[in-house]
Amino acid sequence: MTTKAQKTLVGNVDSHVLAFTIGKDPVLDLALAEVDCIGSAAHVTMLAGLDGGTGPLFTPSEHAAIIAALRDIMATIRAGKFRITAADQDVHLAVERMLSKTLGPIGRRIHTARSRNDQVATDLRLFAKTELLDLLNEGAALAAALLAFAQRYKNVPMVGRTHMQPAMPSSVGVWASAHAESLLDDMALAMSAYDFNDRCPLGSAAGYGVPLPIDRQLTSDLLGFSAPQHNVLYAGNARGKCETVILSACTQVMLSLSRLAEDLILFTTPEMPYFTLPAAYCTGSSIMPQKQNPDVAELVRAKASRVMGHLTAAMGVVKGLPSGYNRDLQEVKEPFMEGVATTRACLVVMARLVEGMTANRKALGDAFEAGVFAADRALELVAEGMPFRDAYQQVKDNLDALECTSPKDAVAQKNHLGAPAGLDLALLKGRVKAVKLFARDEKKQYYKCISALLGTNYPEMGA
Ligand code: ARG
Repeated sequence: MTTKAQKTLVGNVDSHVLAFTIGKDPVLDLALAEVDCIGSAAHVTMLAGLDGGTGPLFTPSEHAAIIAALRDIMATIRAGKFRITAADQDVHLAVERMLSKTLGPIGRRIHTARSRNDQVATDLRLFAKTELLDLLNEGAALAAALLAFAQRYKNVPMVGRTHMQPAMPSSVGVWASAHAESLLDDMALAMSAYDFNDRCPLGSAAGYGVPLPIDRQLTSDLLGFSAPQHNVLYAGNARGKCETVILSACTQVMLSLSRLAEDLILFTTPEMPYFTLPAAYCTGSSIMPQKQNPDVAELVRAKASRVMGHLTAAMGVVKGLPSGYNRDLQEVKEPFMEGVATTRACLVVMARLVEGMTANRKALGDAFEAGVFAADRALELVAEGMPFRDAYQQVKDNLDALECTSPKDAVAQKNHLGAPAGLDLALLKGRVKAVKLFARDEKKQYYKCISALLGTNYPEMGA
C-alpha cells in the first residue's frame, strides 16, 4: 500500500518510506548544523577561486553574500530556531534550502562539485574534532582529581588485594594514581583517534571525484584539518571507520571508569569503609532511612556496557559494507553521538565525585591483618640469605606466628619505581598538563581557521 508521495529536493518519495529512511536524522543532524555551515563556507570559498570555464564560479560579492547567509543560518541555529523538515531529509538539504531562499539563484549553485556523502563525512569529523578536544580536557580533569587524591593520601597504607582477598601492603597513593595512569593511557588513545579523525574528506563528492579542478588541499586548510584524506573512495569509506576508532577510545575510557566505579562501590560499603563519597553525590532510599547509595558509580558502571554496545553497533554496520556510500552508514550516527556524549558525561561526573571524596585513615588501617605481611616476611628472609622458595615455605608453615607489623613501615620499604614509596606523581601530573596543552592548542588553531573562513570571531560570533 502506498501513501501520499512527498516532494523532496531529490525526488518524490512515499511519505512512509521517507519517514523510515530519514530515521532520526532531522533530530540528530541538529548537532551537525553548525559544522555543516562551516563545511559549506569552505567549499564555496574554494569554488570562488575556481575558474568554471566561463569565469569564477562565484564572484567576490557572491562569495561574500553566501558567507554572510551562512553566518545568519548559524545565528538561527544558536537561537534554537533551525528546523530540519522531512522534505529536507537531513541537515545538508535544510541548509541548502535556507541558502536558496535568501540567495536565490546563487544558492542553487553551491552544491556544485560535492555530494551529501562528503558533506556528512566532513560534518562528522568536524563534530568529532571539538568533541574529542573537550573529552581530552574532561579526561585530564578527572586524572588531575585522582592525582590530587593520590597526593593528599600518598603514604596512607591501604591493603592491596588480589582475587579481592587481602594480599600485600599498599597505599592510597598507589590506588588513586593507578586509576589516573589508566585514564592518561586512554587519553593517549583519544589523541591518536583525534589524529586519525584529522583528515578532510571534502571534495571526494559521491566518492569518485569530479571533472572540475577543485582544490581539496585548500578546503582542508580552510577547515583546519591536518591534511586531506587522499583517496576519494577511501574518504567516503572511512566514514564509519572513523567513528569506530573514536568509539574504541571511548570504550577504553569507559572500561577504566567502570573499574574505578566498582572500586568506589566496594570501598564505600560498611564492610570496607575506606572512602567516603560526597553526600550530595549519593542518593537515599525511599524505605531505608540509613541508606547512602553510590548511584553515580553504579550508573557509570552500567553506561560502560552501553558504550561498548554503541561500538559494537557501529562496527556491525561497517562490517562487510561494499565500497562506496551505502545508506547503512546513517545508522552509525546515533551510536556514535550517544557513545561520545555518554563518555564525556561520565568523565565529568566522576571528576566531581573524586574531588569531593575523602579517605578514612582509620578504616584503611584497621583492614590490615597479619596475613597481609606474609609475602613481605618471606622477602625479609630472602634478604637474610634464604632462597625464596624456602622462605615462602617457612612462612606458610608458620602463618600463625605472623605479626601485624607497621603498615606504614611496610609501605615505606617499597621504594622502587612505581611502588608505594617510589611513586612519581609529578611524572603523571606532567602527562595531565601535556593533554591539556594539546587540547588547548588544537582548539585555538581550529578556531583561528574558522574565524578566518567566516570573517568573524569564532566561536563567539559577536555574541
Ligand atoms: N543523511 C545521510 C547519511 O547520514 C546523508 C547522506 C545521504 N546520501 C545519499 N546518497 N542518500 O548518510
